[in-house]
Amino acid sequence: MSTTTLSSVLPFGSEIGPNGHLLLGGCDSVELAREYGTPLYVMVEDDLRDRATRFVNALEASGLDGQVMFASKACPVAAVCGLFAELGIGCDVTSAGELRLALHGGVPPEGILFHGNAKSDADIADALSVGVGLIVVDAADEVVRINAAAASAGVHQKVLLRVTPGVEGDTIAAISTGQEDSKFGVNLIEAPAVIELIEAADSLELVGLHLHVGSQLGDTDAIRRAAEAIAPLGSFPVVNLGGGLGVAYCDGDPQGDIEAFVAGAAAAARDCFGEGVKLMLEPGRALTAAAGVTLYSVEGVKRNVSTWVAVDGGISDNLRPLAYGSRYEALIADRVGERPDTPARVVGKHCESGDEIVSDANLPAPKRGDTLAVPVTGAYGHSMANNYNAALRPPIVLVSGGKSRLIVRRERFDDLLGREIGDPVRSVGDRDA
Ligand SMILES: Cc1ncc(COP(=O)(O)O)c(C=O)c1O
Repeated sequence: MSTTTLSSVLPFGSEIGPNGHLLLGGCDSVELAREYGTPLYVMVEDDLRDRATRFVNALEASGLDGQVMFASKACPVAAVCGLFAELGIGCDVTSAGELRLALHGGVPPEGILFHGNAKSDADIADALSVGVGLIVVDAADEVVRINAAAASAGVHQKVLLRVTPGVEGDTIAAISTGQEDSKFGVNLIEAPAVIELIEAADSLELVGLHLHVGSQLGDTDAIRRAAEAIAPLGSFPVVNLGGGLGVAYCDGDPQGDIEAFVAGAAAAARDCFGEGVKLMLEPGRALTAAAGVTLYSVEGVKRNVSTWVAVDGGISDNLRPLAYGSRYEALIADRVGERPDTPARVVGKHCESGDEIVSDANLPAPKRGDTLAVPVTGAYGHSMANNYNAALRPPIVLVSGGKSRLIVRRERFDDLLGREIGDPVRSVGDRDA
């Protein structure tokens, strides 16, 4: 048997076990698949802690007062938000649901920042009632609504204003947010009037500006240009330069450099807003993507023009390949040290030809019953999971030091059927009769 080295995109501490199985957080991944079933999201705790600590330390090393906020949309899981909170990281939420998950995970309300480009009155009331630290104003009309709600709740609410800097992130259109024609924030022309409006609102305090140019960025060039664009709007105690640091999804992809990203953002903040500014950063995928590996069972291998390796999940647990053409790699967890010899297309079980997880995999003689691992699925996998084909959304297991702990259980048929409250054999007309 010839051997190969482990992929560089596997989580921190991944190894080949004595039986040739992939070890994640010291746990045998084939055993994890047996114990918890598949599809299964595995999150490696040491990887989460390592990246979180690096962000916090890099911000501290920048010499600026700063705060890392986890963009929880990447992995809205109470235990993950709580783990980051223990390390001093706050939480960015974009819905009442994400707010509840962050609170459930033990994130203190004052460490939560509430976003949203379509906040309902109920969202605003929710955020105010729990006492979130910051609400990010996304449009002029929100100023009036948040101010009125804060006044009636007897709350003095600190807010940031999200500004669309008119700068495109160096990324794909679906995850670029800073360009002029964006649904997020107020533009540079409108911003001065909205700032005046907030400053005149009795129950609001404008503490700073916010921007987010996009995701999967390789460097901070776009962030610097965006910071330069919004700096003339005024001097405030806080600036939030968003998230967006990219990650390597496949062996050989450029790896996002946490220290360089934070240093670059801090230099931009210092140069544009002065030494005394407090810098907030909102990383999502850079904190959680690489910690996650999805385990599947191979249900069948078919050969025609291509070799098709069909697994028991797909676009229901990872929408990104279909949504953005995102690339991943795949490994056979049972024989992870063996040299791959079979070019294959890894596909899911769903009724779409686009349900293809890895189009250019190379696997060691894949066969039914193998456990297939797809690395770098710790961000926007669980959060974009869905019930297509009435699939049950997978559980998440946290692994560390050879131990595993279920932090999100698998969805059950009860969860699906529990929402079906209509009588299936009667029409609406029958019901009225
Ligand atoms: C406002 C805001 N902040 C932070 C993020 C996190 O982005 P990423 O996961 O690329 O770091 C996003 C992503 O959509 C966002 O919209």
